[in-house]
Amino acid sequence: MSDLSEKAGSYNFNDIGKGGEELKRLQLQASASIDLEISMLTNKGLKKGDKILDLACGPGFITRQLAKNDPTADITGMDLNLELLEFARSEAKRNSLNSINFIHGDVYEPPLKDNQFDFIYARLLFQHLKEPKKALDAIYRLLKPGGRICIFDVDDDWLSLYPEPSGFKTFTETVGEIQSRKGGNRKIGRQLGFLVESSGFKNVAVDVQTISSRDIGMKAFLDITLGFKSRMLSEKDLVKSKKTLSETESLIANPKAWAFVGVFIAIGIREKKV
Ligand SMILES: C[S@@+](CC[C@H](N)C(=O)[O-])C[C@H]1O[C@@H](n2cnc3c(N)ncnc32)[C@H](O)[C@@H]1O
Repeated sequence: MSDLSEKAGSYNFNDIGKGGEELKRLQLQASASIDLEISMLTNKGLKKGDKILDLACGPGFITRQLAKNDPTADITGMDLNLELLEFARSEAKRNSLNSINFIHGDVYEPPLKDNQFDFIYARLLFQHLKEPKKALDAIYRLLKPGGRICIFDVDDDWLSLYPEPSGFKTFTETVGEIQSRKGGNRKIGRQLGFLVESSGFKNVAVDVQTISSRDIGMKAFLDITLGFKSRMLSEKDLVKSKKTLSETESLIANPKAWAFVGVFIAIGIREKKV
């Protein structure tokens, strides 16, 4: 089977996963507030026994949590990246979660039958997509009438550190521009409601949930929110950002420091046939 990873918008694990650092970051990002996330999904309409698609499941940390949370759920994880999928499959096996079905596929042309899922979760995928509307059209078709899409993603204007390191805004803008050149969008959060509604979903709602450094610890907070960003920089940009990054790192030892990120959660329902 060919690796479709070159199509993976602004996220290509094979470019940034060197030394397993990105895998560790994804795990930390998935586990830092997992209980809150599962109860958030239940509040958004996830039900026991649902047929669930974890779209762009990556290494499958969330897919496995969904399976542990509800052994009666019928769960599929899909991703473009073969290395991440292999990891997801072997970890599911190691944890005896043998009923999860992991498949290789592209969100724009998923190799899955239409009208079959009750709940599709797309976590940290949309910021990487060049054509989010095309992805939503494909998601719409995969859902049963009455099924739900839930998108979890970020918006860089909702990331703040106090005290703010010098040059922090320039740093986040530089990373945002690099991601845009690769087809991504670090400010996708604010567009999610519009995009989901434009794709024909009903009862669309968007929440912004705040996670602070006091919830998960400053080190974990910075690893999750900034680890990926600094690995996207060129050597030249890294040199330019050295002071900003070292001031950011110093927040870990500063008991008076605070940091906040807003996570956008958008939900929409495929209309039931009348
Ligand atoms: C930041 S990771 C998030 C992984 C996982 N959802 C999580 O939250 O831990 C983004 C994932 O999107 C996948 N991806 C990017 N473009 C994709 C596409 N067009 N179709 C399917 N997966 C894609 C990447 O391979 C990667 O695993």
